Amino acid sequence: MGYFMKETAKLTYKEKSIELPVTEGTFGEKGLDISKLRATTGLITFDPGSVNTGSCNSSITYLNGEEGILLYRGIPIEQLAEKSTFLETAYLLIYGKLPNQDENKYFSESIINHSMLHESVKDFYSGVPATAHPMAVCSAVIGALATFYPDALDPRNERHVEISIHRLIAKLPTIAAYSYKKSIGQPFMYPDDSLDYCSNYLRMMFSVPCAEYYADPVIAKALDVLFILHADHEQNCSTSTVRLVGSSMANLFASISAGISALWGPLHGGANQAVIEMLQNIHEDGGNINKYIDKAKDKNDPFRLMGFGHRVYKNFDPRSRILKKYCQGVLDTMGVYEPYLEIAMKLEDIALKDDYFIEKKLYPNVDFYSGIIYRAMKIPLNMFTVLFAIGRLPGWIAQWVEMHRDKHFKIGRPRQIFTGAKKTHYEPIEERQ
Ligand code: CMC
Repeated sequence: MGYFMKETAKLTYKEKSIELPVTEGTFGEKGLDISKLRATTGLITFDPGSVNTGSCNSSITYLNGEEGILLYRGIPIEQLAEKSTFLETAYLLIYGKLPNQDENKYFSESIINHSMLHESVKDFYSGVPATAHPMAVCSAVIGALATFYPDALDPRNERHVEISIHRLIAKLPTIAAYSYKKSIGQPFMYPDDSLDYCSNYLRMMFSVPCAEYYADPVIAKALDVLFILHADHEQNCSTSTVRLVGSSMANLFASISAGISALWGPLHGGANQAVIEMLQNIHEDGGNINKYIDKAKDKNDPFRLMGFGHRVYKNFDPRSRILKKYCQGVLDTMGVYEPYLEIAMKLEDIALKDDYFIEKKLYPNVDFYSGIIYRAMKIPLNMFTVLFAIGRLPGWIAQWVEMHRDKHFKIGRPRQIFTGAKKTHYEPIEERQ
């Protein structure tokens, strides 16, 4: 929780002045508290993209974009990627501490126990075309889960929230795998309680009823690390969406469904799919990397180097550093040659020496290398962003829970500066131009 310092900032507008208290976070980051601004001066703030706006106090994730630091509940992402598991990290984010042995056992078993879907959920899949993007399907099915649990939807009932959390973490991989199976016309595979979270997901994705399937532990481990790296990232677009929807007292399923939709966009989670599409274009275009660097720099060309740049990181995204190292290791272990990795590394090399990217502080972000690992795992391209969603789920949940416990809780309702027509009158249709 930020605390108020003795410092204030003074804002004078016409004859009115206001002393704005300065609040300070754990690492000394400071913010102006403007909660009395409008009441005192009649002014509101204008901050497109919320670039300068802190929307909440949060004690979940700390990220320092200048120094490339990312901590979940104080623990560096590098340590979690090396030592933790996704479910343990999910617990850490949601409950605020690493689980002890009993808590870990209870939590993991509960997740395993809830991984099956109600049989009627399958009917939703009959209603969508096989060509449906799995992000649309996942968002719809998560929203639809609320129809199956009408007696456990109260955001202020701890038991309701607890069971919904377990259901969501347990069922999203099943929902995701079903969306893939639907798209290729294969039967849905039920979860297998004897497997760990990631092996179970891989099995539901790639096994068929007529053959034995063995989830490669190297791939399952890599997936687990990828999920940890994606698990939270403070107040990004999808997380802010989850908080905003939740602030209306909408249930957790509705809030997470909205978060999945926000994540889908190519400027956010959808970038992991867009990176591979870009690398594929460069590859098919003869590997002319400079041409694409020039396109990215051209103001008249909408093309952007996907997987580069970040609203907060103005230095290396620590997740991309881990992934780059991990990527090479996974490909070597699997004995896979991936031409896109070579292109990506060359692209990164050239971009990092180019004045345009240096001046604008554009570095590879988490999406730059994640897609290459997914490709090596034979994950289909349109499932990449779904994997981001599975990884991000604990972060969304932790932020939603934190918001509901915040003593400053209020429905999110930004204001606007109206720039439309002045008051006019209704014109009958026959008189209109
Ligand atoms: N390629 C070329 N130019 C870029 C890029 C890029 N990838 N990213 C930013 N710029 C330029 C942009 O044109 C602008 O130039 P100018 O100041 O001359 O107008 C300047 O850099 C600042 O960009 P911005 O769009 O104002 O910055 P932002 O903070 O609003 O956007 C971003 C951040 C991530 C949306 C943007 O960098 C981008 O579009 N990157 C490509 C998409 C991508 O990789 N997204 C994944 C983000 S990480 C995963 C996640 O957490 O979602």
